[in-house]
Amino acid sequence: MNPVHADFFAGGAGAERTLRDNLDAYHRLRIVPRVLRATGDRDLRTTLFGTRLATPVLVAPTAFHLLAHPGGEAATAEGAAAAGTIMVVSMAATQPVERIAEAGGPLWFQLYPQPDREFTAAVVKRAEAAGCRALVVTVDSPVFGRRERDLRHGFTDLPAGLACENMRDGTGRVRDIAMDATLGWDRIGWLREITGLPILLKGILHPADARLAVEHGVDGVIVSNHGGRQLDGALATIDALPAVAEAVGGRIPVLVDGGIRRGTDVLIALARGAAAVLVGRPVLDALAQNGADGVRDQLRTLTADLDHAMALAGAKRPADLSPDLVRVAG
Ligand code: FNR
Repeated sequence: MNPVHADFFAGGAGAERTLRDNLDAYHRLRIVPRVLRATGDRDLRTTLFGTRLATPVLVAPTAFHLLAHPGGEAATAEGAAAAGTIMVVSMAATQPVERIAEAGGPLWFQLYPQPDREFTAAVVKRAEAAGCRALVVTVDSPVFGRRERDLRHGFTDLPAGLACENMRDGTGRVRDIAMDATLGWDRIGWLREITGLPILLKGILHPADARLAVEHGVDGVIVSNHGGRQLDGALATIDALPAVAEAVGGRIPVLVDGGIRRGTDVLIALARGAAAVLVGRPVLDALAQNGADGVRDQLRTLTADLDHAMALAGAKRPADLSPDLVRVAG
């Protein structure tokens, strides 16, 4: 891969403290297994908003898949479908959502609400018409994160011939994705009015925001710091999860992403209250290496690794995993 693009995928904001801490935080945690639980008939199937999945591991929304592989987002969708899970299509996808939907599914659609409400509504309708089953509204990006690797490389635009295809307006012109610092809870209410799809907020770290999300009728929250690409110094997601799960109190599903690389990471996240997890960079790496098959194998491997860890920890089902199975090391 072009090293500039590799840095775009791998990098984070600022000094990349949060990027690193998302991973390091898992290393500070230990599993306290249960024994003699007869876990021979394990079952990892998970249902989210009526969609049955083979695994609680989903594909996080990430931009620009055509920079990783000529199959682009369609290849990722095909791989995710083969693994029996959901791909969240990024608003910054380099292929149209309709084309991605032909290659795979189930899909959810990630939205950065744009200052232009009419255009935002048109994008939501397009995602609905393509068959996307939920809307993932990214709320950690009122302004764009300062990604120093990209700044050093001067990487600001896609190469000629590539575009954010879901940003085409009625005239066929591709709009830039605007970060909107005027975004507030009123806009979530507005989205609720214009779509019947379940709405998840992605980028929740503070338990007070999780409570507000429930009060505003949101259907799910994703504990995320955007893979360390927005606010550097933000809390690692696995450290933020317990308080968010407690604030939500089981009223809506809580998902988490950031730094999940192994089955034991998934196990810890589920034990700390996540209904499911999402992975970003591992999917991009797998896509770059081997297209749709790479994505499928990556997701299957992570799922098999989770299954193995669950057997060793004494859990048959994700629901058997509880917070007492996880302790801070030391
Ligand atoms: C992202 N992420 C992201 N999130 C989002 O809401 N919309 C987007 O377009 C993107 N684009 C994007 C590009 C790249 C290259 C990366 C690495 C990440 C964030 C993503 O959804 C997720 O929160 C993190 O990637 C999770 O962390 P890990 O699994 O990469 O450690």
